[in-house]
Amino acid sequence: MPSLAMRQKPVAGASHWLMVGDWGYEKFEAQKSVAAAMQHYAQEHKLKTDALMMLGDNWYGDLIGGVDSSRWKTQFEDMYPASVFDCPAYAVLGNHDYQRMPESKVQAELEYAKRPGTRWKMPARWYSFEFPAVNPLATVIALDSNMPHPEGPQAKGVNFTLTPEEQAEQLRWLTAELEKPRSTPYLIVIGHHPIYSNGPHGDQKVLIADWEPLFRKHKVHMYFAGHDHDMQHLEFDGHPTSFVLSGGGGADLYTLKIDEAQRGPYAAKVYGFSHLEITPECLTLRHIDSEGRLIHGFRKSPGGVIQVLS
Ligand SMILES: [Fe+2]
Ligand SMILES: [Zn+2]
Repeated sequence: MPSLAMRQKPVAGASHWLMVGDWGYEKFEAQKSVAAAMQHYAQEHKLKTDALMMLGDNWYGDLIGGVDSSRWKTQFEDMYPASVFDCPAYAVLGNHDYQRMPESKVQAELEYAKRPGTRWKMPARWYSFEFPAVNPLATVIALDSNMPHPEGPQAKGVNFTLTPEEQAEQLRWLTAELEKPRSTPYLIVIGHHPIYSNGPHGDQKVLIADWEPLFRKHKVHMYFAGHDHDMQHLEFDGHPTSFVLSGGGGADLYTLKIDEAQRGPYAAKVYGFSHLEITPECLTLRHIDSEGRLIHGFRKSPGGVIQVLS
């Protein structure tokens, strides 16, 4: 892959999305520092953020009161304030969101999206949209990656997942979505669990079987995930999809299992968030750490040509 000089300055007039995964941790010092870095980054670059992408594990632990929990204010509204991020926050569900503590957090997240004027977008557990609404540049498919456990969809009575029927229903829906004619230059998929990961959770067999062949066939440009608490960008020879993992939003970091020299180009145990800049000419993805430093970036053309920024 050829590299080119790291371009620090985001492009004016582009569509800018900031992404964060694994953020709603009970001890939220690290979340605070990543969120502060996101705010500072947006202000420093005078970014009009068009969207936030919340990549799952939105709520670890108890969400007492569900949709009325005070955590919505302290760890979402105040952490990523509308004064800086006056845009929709599209969310997908992680494994911790599926834990019933004490009630279904999934239900609370779906309900919070129905509050008048809320930025929180989760119209269903899986959904699609074109973005921006006027002259859209990307078709985005948001998925629920909580595949059934071998021991059943309600392991230990707390850890719920999709049922096998819901897994099949989503797969049918995804197949139909991908087969629709597309007028946007980019196809982006987001979900919580990575398909491939250098982190301790590793590659996900069910997603490799269910989703990966569809991504390959329909030339998905990028797949964004979290789940492993680190930051990654993986490319595979001849594969049209760039696998981006942004799981450094606040929960305790994990030690990587596979080094980036072995499978990369990038994997690091670090807190951070990601910035996706979209123009008709290219997608530019930047990983930014909690100190606001640009730690990795790459650019991808509509035709799939990649340049790593270094
Ligand atoms: Fe997580
Ligand atoms: Zn997770």
